[in-house]
Amino acid sequence: MSDGDNAVPALHDFEPDGDDSAAEILRGLAATPKRISPKYFYDERGSQLFDAITELPEYYPTRTELAIMRENVGEIARLVGPEASLIEFGSGSSLKTQILLENLVALAAYVPVDISKEHLVAAAERIAALFPDVDVLPVCADFTQPFELPDPKVTPVRNLVYFPGSTIGNFQRPQALALLQSMSRVATEGGALLIGVDLDKDPEIITRAYNDAAGVTAEFNLNMLTHLNREYQADFDIRQFAHRAVYDRQDNRIEMQLVSMKDQTVTIGGRRIRFSKGEHILTEYSHKYTRAEFAALAAEAGFQVECVWTDAEGLFSVQFLVCTADN
Ligand code: AVJ
Repeated sequence: MSDGDNAVPALHDFEPDGDDSAAEILRGLAATPKRISPKYFYDERGSQLFDAITELPEYYPTRTELAIMRENVGEIARLVGPEASLIEFGSGSSLKTQILLENLVALAAYVPVDISKEHLVAAAERIAALFPDVDVLPVCADFTQPFELPDPKVTPVRNLVYFPGSTIGNFQRPQALALLQSMSRVATEGGALLIGVDLDKDPEIITRAYNDAAGVTAEFNLNMLTHLNREYQADFDIRQFAHRAVYDRQDNRIEMQLVSMKDQTVTIGGRRIRFSKGEHILTEYSHKYTRAEFAALAAEAGFQVECVWTDAEGLFSVQFLVCTADN
């Protein structure tokens, strides 16, 4: 029974922000081609803009994944079984998680892991209030780095790692493999992974999803520079950069870029970064997978695909994998 005390979950804070981020950004801007990690999209405005993207007619992934989850959550809950611990990598605003929380049986714990402390705490409080019987244990960490799992009050029967949204698509193959390996270590042998994976398809459909008519994706991309201006002492002139999203058919991925409209110099954290006209910063990859490609990658990390659900058009997939590695 709940004593109504579930409203303020204790935060496990690994303090992922700070000096490391500033150094990482400078390293990326010193590289050729210049690049900045997509994690810097998500300041408060960036998170709002991403939410707006998920509502765009051209952006199919979110609504398709939600529909797949709604349609198959009964079968998912049966595969997971009772008393699991649900560990979500990059929990964000978590509409999809709510579907799981409503349907998983006698959940031992919910462990949302996110880099943004404010979002994490707000989401954890909301979930704790909605699900008073669930042990909510938020972890503030950069999930691409090792972090410790908190101990739930009840020992879980199995760990279920949840990684929705096709965020796996942001990573190039070696980093995607490393991330799946760390998920495999969190799941442990007999544990499982439930993951959203955007599928390979007509490049026209993909290109449109990242070049919406309303210009929201452009605003989302450019907002990264506003974020850097505010948090990392930079002076990017937003009007002198443009959004570009191109599909690379060789590597099956969207490349989001910010293109410099002229020769210019930008200062960030006391350093001067030179841009020539037409030069770009790579801000995001979004890889699209065939089912076979993803199964092969996951197998390398010790995951075996048990079940794949898709929509009628085969745009997006939700996949259930079992961890076979004793790492
Ligand atoms: C959150 C990584 C799944 O790659 O589609 C949406 C982010 N970028 N529009 C994606 C995004 C531009 C999104 N992910």
